[in-house]
Amino acid sequence: MNTVAIESRDDVMQRARTENLISPRFYTTDYQAMNRLDVSSLRAEWDAMLAEYEGDNNHDHFKRDEAFASEIRELPPALRQEFLDFMITSITSEYSGCVLYNEIRKNVDNPDIKRLMTYLTRDESRHANFINASLRDYGLAVDLAQLKATKAYTYFKPKYIYYATYLSEKIGYARYITIFRQLERHPELRFHPIFRWFERWCNDEFRHGESFALIMRANPHLLRGVNLYWIRFFLLAVYATMFVRDHTRPTLHLAMGLDPDTFDYKVFDITTAISRQVFPVSLDTDLPGFRAGLARLVEIRRAYDTAAQRGGFVGKLQQAVCAAKGALTFARLYFMPVKRHDLPVQIRVEPAW
Ligand SMILES: [Fe+2]
Ligand SMILES: [Fe+2]
Repeated sequence: MNTVAIESRDDVMQRARTENLISPRFYTTDYQAMNRLDVSSLRAEWDAMLAEYEGDNNHDHFKRDEAFASEIRELPPALRQEFLDFMITSITSEYSGCVLYNEIRKNVDNPDIKRLMTYLTRDESRHANFINASLRDYGLAVDLAQLKATKAYTYFKPKYIYYATYLSEKIGYARYITIFRQLERHPELRFHPIFRWFERWCNDEFRHGESFALIMRANPHLLRGVNLYWIRFFLLAVYATMFVRDHTRPTLHLAMGLDPDTFDYKVFDITTAISRQVFPVSLDTDLPGFRAGLARLVEIRRAYDTAAQRGGFVGKLQQAVCAAKGALTFARLYFMPVKRHDLPVQIRVEPAW
C-alpha cells in the first residue's frame, strides 16, 4: 500500500517521518505531572523491578554474532520492500520510546521516575540501533538525530501516555514472541538473522510494560470511572492500528508462514491476557462483529490509498468518504460489548508465552 519503493536514504527518512493514522508517532507530555507521580504504595514491587533493570540481563545481547552476516540473503523484491518497511516502522517506534523516555528523564527530579526513564532510554536506544545496523546492510539507515529534529510531535496528557505506552510495550512483546516461536518451529522460514534476537529482546519490552502497569496500579484513579472509556479507546486504537498496518504487509507475514489474520488475533489474545493485570476491561476480539469491523477497516484503508493515488478533486472526495467510513466503523467497534474483570492482587506477570 506504500506505493513509493524504498531505495535511497531519502526514501527511508520520508517513510520514517510519515504521519498518518497508522504510522508510529513521537510524543511530548506534561513532565511536571510526571514528576509528581507517586509509586510509594507499591514500594516493594517497584524496587524489585528497578533492581531487574539494574541487573541488565540483556547487556550482552544486542551485538551481532559471527553467523549473522552469513545468514543475510537476497530477498525477492516484494519481500525486500515489506521487510525494509517493517524495519523502518520498528526503528521509528523504538526510537519514539527512546526520545520520549529521555525527555521525561531530563525533565523530572523524582528519583523513582528518573531512574526508570534512564533504564527505558538505555533499552530503546539499543533496540533502535540494532535494527538500524540491519538497515545499513542494505546501504540504508534512519538518521536518528535528524528524525528527532524533524519528525512531528503529538502532545499526550500523562494518562494517555501510560495507557498507550503500556499497550505498545505489551503488544510489542506479544508480536516479537509470536514471531520468534513461529520461526523456532520453522527455522527454514527465518529469512533474516535478526529474528533470532527477538526472544530476549521482547523480554525488555515486557518489563517496560510492567513498569507502566505498576505506575497505573499505584494510581488507581487512572483505572476507574470515566477513564475506563479512555482505556477502551486506547485498546481499540492500538489493536486496530496494528491490524491495518500488518495487512499492508501480507508478503512479510506469508514468508514467515503466518497469515496476518491468525497472527494478529494470536497477538491480541496474548496482549489481552496480559493486560488483565491492569485494565479492568478488555476487548472481545472473538465477536464476529468485531472481526468484521477490523476487516472493514482494512478494506477502507485500501480504498483510501487507491483514492490517494488517483489524486485530483475526485480522489480527494473519495478520500474524504473513506475517512468518514473509517471513523464510523471505528465508532461501531468502540461500542461493541467488552469484557469486565477484577484486578489481581498479584500485579506482576511473567513473560510465559
Ligand atoms: Fe524496544
Ligand atoms: Fe520498550
